[in-house]
Amino acid sequence: MIHHDSEHRLWVLSGPSSSYVLHLDEADRPRVLHWGPRLSPEQAASLPLRLPRPGFRPVEDPLEGSFDLISTGGLCYGQVGLQVRFADGTRDLELVFTGQRRTDRELVLAYADRHYPLAVECHYRLYGDVIERHLVLRNEGEPVTVVRADSATWVLPRLNGYRLSSVRGQWGAETRLHRTELPYGETVLTSRRGVTSHQANPWAMVDDGTAGEEYGAVYSCALAWSGSWRLTAQRLPTERVTLSAGAGHDPVTQELDTGEELVTPVCAGLYTEGGFGAASRAWHDHQLRHVLPHPGEIRPVLYNSWEATGFDVSLDGQIRLAESAARMGVELFVVDDGWFGARTHDAAGLGDWYPNPHRFPEGLGPLIDRVHELGMRFGLWVEPEMVNPDSDLYRAHPDWVIHRPHRTRTEHRNQLVLDLSRPEVGDWLYRTLDELLAKNAIDFLKWDMNRPFTEAGPDERLWLGHVHTLYDVLDRLRAAHPHVRIESCSSGGGRVDLGILRRTDQVWTSDNTDALDRLDIQHGFSQLYPARVMGAWVTDSPNPYTGREIPLDFRFHVAMAGVLAIGGALTEWSRADLDRAAELIADYKRIRPLVQHGRQYRLRPPDGELSAVQYLASDGTEAAVLVYRRARRFGHADPGIPLRALDPDARYRDVSTGEVHHGAVLLAHGLFPDLAPGDYAGALVHLVREQA
Ligand code: GLA
Repeated sequence: MIHHDSEHRLWVLSGPSSSYVLHLDEADRPRVLHWGPRLSPEQAASLPLRLPRPGFRPVEDPLEGSFDLISTGGLCYGQVGLQVRFADGTRDLELVFTGQRRTDRELVLAYADRHYPLAVECHYRLYGDVIERHLVLRNEGEPVTVVRADSATWVLPRLNGYRLSSVRGQWGAETRLHRTELPYGETVLTSRRGVTSHQANPWAMVDDGTAGEEYGAVYSCALAWSGSWRLTAQRLPTERVTLSAGAGHDPVTQELDTGEELVTPVCAGLYTEGGFGAASRAWHDHQLRHVLPHPGEIRPVLYNSWEATGFDVSLDGQIRLAESAARMGVELFVVDDGWFGARTHDAAGLGDWYPNPHRFPEGLGPLIDRVHELGMRFGLWVEPEMVNPDSDLYRAHPDWVIHRPHRTRTEHRNQLVLDLSRPEVGDWLYRTLDELLAKNAIDFLKWDMNRPFTEAGPDERLWLGHVHTLYDVLDRLRAAHPHVRIESCSSGGGRVDLGILRRTDQVWTSDNTDALDRLDIQHGFSQLYPARVMGAWVTDSPNPYTGREIPLDFRFHVAMAGVLAIGGALTEWSRADLDRAAELIADYKRIRPLVQHGRQYRLRPPDGELSAVQYLASDGTEAAVLVYRRARRFGHADPGIPLRALDPDARYRDVSTGEVHHGAVLLAHGLFPDLAPGDYAGALVHLVREQA
């Protein structure tokens, strides 16, 4: 609901439990008076419009850090969300309010520069308590350079302290949760790689330093963009804190010609109470309702051939794997790299998207037919934004890659990035994939992107244009082939964000499939993103990446916390393991509506001996609890694991043991699952509420 109070020049944007209150001051600057618990319009109108006067004459603007649109100019010297350079070199923007458009859920506040014909619109859209914000810039004057156009600048109220939560990572070790006091100055989270990145992810949460998993207020924001980005958490010496995020990184600028318009991606902001757990659940809920293209779907159990066969792909080999997978209960069989062009290793073939004629002399048809006959859907790996110099595509179009004259074409994994901002490359990309999907009965694409940009230069057309073309091609392919589902992959979890999730159905979380490492990766992933999109494979032991040996059940229990998949060399698995895997897949299918569509409670983080996560059906009738004990020290007894959000007056039956527990006891004392005595002991407990 959006309320306007013209007398006080106030706008009150309210979700079910929070409000965001904006006030336009005498200089037409949008000041955030409140972001926090819900206020009625009357309560909002009583907020003080002026700050208490400092007892001395300030040397800077005392309101700095309280505007939701901050542009260069006046006595503000901190972080600037909107920076332009006019043709005559003027850098200050002086915006005057020119009007508003408003519905129940949408608000547009329009401004224009006092002198130069540049219009700036701030768009707000409410989804429950989530506020989506973006900017639209329209230039009617001489060309303008846009130095920075953050989608949103979120203003926090004064708190007793400030703590920043975010994720850091690297290839094979993505989304490691990092929680630290927010230092004074500017903390910049960024990707300069042309892709979302493994190193950082475009979201942040701030609390006052006392929030826990289940209590405390949390302010968070997330940017919907899959290219380079920058998120600045600023803490001014005056204790004002802002989170400002947008596409692009320093020093990338954008030219806005006469008559041109710039629409930024969306940055969403959210205020929640109830700790980090409640913040995560609100973000999950938002994505399940408003971001994902097919939110109601249950993701199938997938098999992926990469770890089993690498580049050694053959029709017979894939059929053998498919037969084993189908017997286990797999529902979607995905052929990874190595099926196309001259791709028998990683130095050739990228760009030539036709089946390797030696490996598939009759095309993919016989394999796809067999997979379908086995009752599974068929998926295929592609990496369409890339080219190996040793490919027909590169030989025909060496100028299609991102490059600069007089500079080295830096290769990574023997490949270069296609410049999707060139219209002919975008056209080729769409035509090639459209044809692949039209000629073959493909149900699923794993869309990979294995290297960042180099030699791209400061030209914004390329940095931003690449992502716009990518989004456009994905949107058009989905429209033309509505049954096809897509997985976003970038050497594992290098492209996970709210922008790509609007157009894909799940993501590949990490190339690292070691179950122990995965506990940390999944814990960080879950802070913002739902289990419904988190691809998780069970692979071989010892793990090919870490060499660690982990029992089959534990590997399964870890992967069951997301979209369960199998990625092992099944032809080498023992009969006993194959049979046990089939049982565990059947267990997963029973709980997956809870995992994929229920509410997630992180019961114990994976930083001690024992960790656990609970999924609760939205109507509260069923819960699944996954418990992991990595090792037990001598003399330690496993503690009980108190559950969350159950009905204390209800009874819950354990589906496998038949034991009946009281809700009140589960909430207060918890579950004591029967874990095996050794290391890597896991359990799945499925509870069903008894009829009253
Ligand atoms: C990337 C992906 C892997 C696999 C390989 C294939 O590394 O993350 O899952 O698809 O490429 O080359």
